Amino acid sequence: MVRPSLPAAPALDMPDSGAIVCSCFSVGINTIAAAVTGQGCTTVEAVGACTKAGTNCGSCRAEIRGIIDAHRLAAAE
Ligand code: FES
Repeated sequence: MVRPSLPAAPALDMPDSGAIVCSCFSVGINTIAAAVTGQGCTTVEAVGACTKAGTNCGSCRAEIRGIIDAHRLAAAE
């Protein structure tokens, strides 16, 4: 019997990491945003130090920069 696959749901005791931004380390947008807003990570390098995102192939670094900039703009308003 073949069962249809269901999307994985986050464990109840784990925060939703959001859509994956860094596929090398499976780091989601919510995790990156939390590093920016909650841990004061204001550079791609700092986000990488906190989450590992962007520290392997680097293809997600532009998107991480965009997340940082979006939160910077939101904080300035
Ligand atoms: S996708 Fe983020 S370092 Fe490779």
